[in-house]
Amino acid sequence: MSISLRKKNHIDICLESDVQSSLTNGFEQFRLIHNACPEKDFETFPISTTFLNHTISAPILISSMTGGTERAEMINHHLALAAEELNLPFALGSQRVFVDKGKLDDLQAIRRDAPTIPVLANIGAVQLNFGYGKDSLLQIVDSVEAEALILHFNPLQEILQPNGDTNFAGLLPKIEAICRNFPVPIVAKEVGNGFSLETARQFAEAGIEWIDVAGAGGTSWAKVESLAAGQQLSGDVTAVFEDWGIPTADCIASIHQALPEMNLIASGGIRNGVEIRKACLMGAKICGLALPLLKPALKSSQAVKEVLENLIFQYRTAAFLSTGIEKI
Ligand SMILES: Cc1cc2nc3c(=O)[nH]c(=O)nc-3n(C[C@H](O)[C@H](O)[C@H](O)COP(=O)(O)O)c2cc1C
Repeated sequence: MSISLRKKNHIDICLESDVQSSLTNGFEQFRLIHNACPEKDFETFPISTTFLNHTISAPILISSMTGGTERAEMINHHLALAAEELNLPFALGSQRVFVDKGKLDDLQAIRRDAPTIPVLANIGAVQLNFGYGKDSLLQIVDSVEAEALILHFNPLQEILQPNGDTNFAGLLPKIEAICRNFPVPIVAKEVGNGFSLETARQFAEAGIEWIDVAGAGGTSWAKVESLAAGQQLSGDVTAVFEDWGIPTADCIASIHQALPEMNLIASGGIRNGVEIRKACLMGAKICGLALPLLKPALKSSQAVKEVLENLIFQYRTAAFLSTGIEKI
């Protein structure tokens, strides 16, 4: 099956089936401390923040999604327009299909839609073992004038999908060499199973300065892959991995405590502005969402904007009303 057909299948499954992990994201174990006397004006209460040297409206990131070339174009168009209008950053889905088809130039449209916001380029880390080197990574970044490059780590997904790229050996020394003088920050990102503290330490030693934990509690790629057509493995075999991984809140808490200098992005099952406030108080610089934006992105930029505006409102309210966070 071609990569674009596989991506198209993924989108169909994410739209039509329940692909949410039955694990929670872990934020329900924490409570914001309510402040009934905020001594501030809600109308002028600031929630903007800096991200990759830009001032953005709120600590919210559109997380990576890809859709196979035809639908990717429309999804990216709507996401980029909404991100630009709201002054929020936008992470692209894997650019591999575009590289393989020699169509990286098509992605210039992103910068026409979103000339001023931070855009993050994206490719699977494992591709460093399958012909991708520093030059290809630079091309991927240049194609969208990206402010950062995401290297996503998806070992479970690659194992479960037919003909996945499963050789993850020796990636850290390659990443270390690339990090040494790469022109933009590199973000190590999972896709819904999270990073342990041990893995975060290995990344820090390799020179990685940004981690998007993409923890468990949101989209389960094991569920997506179990439902995908043409699987070699039966659902009975893969079912035990549907709830695999480390919940997002646990990743953020453990990594921030041990590695306070690491820039953290919280994602994986984040679904409202209260969770965004919690993640930020626990050490995340910004929070990302993918699945809740998929359906709106197929409809219009207005539909994407509405979801993001509701999140901004919820975050602003939660930030206005809370002074701290405690474990329940
Ligand atoms: C349709 C779809 C496509 C995705 N494609 C990518 C991708 O190409 N690269 C990547 O790093 N993550 C990809 N992801 C993973 C998300 O960026 C995110 O880490 C994960 O879905 C957890 O966040 P969520 O619970 O908010 O969906 C994709 C997610 C979805 C729903």
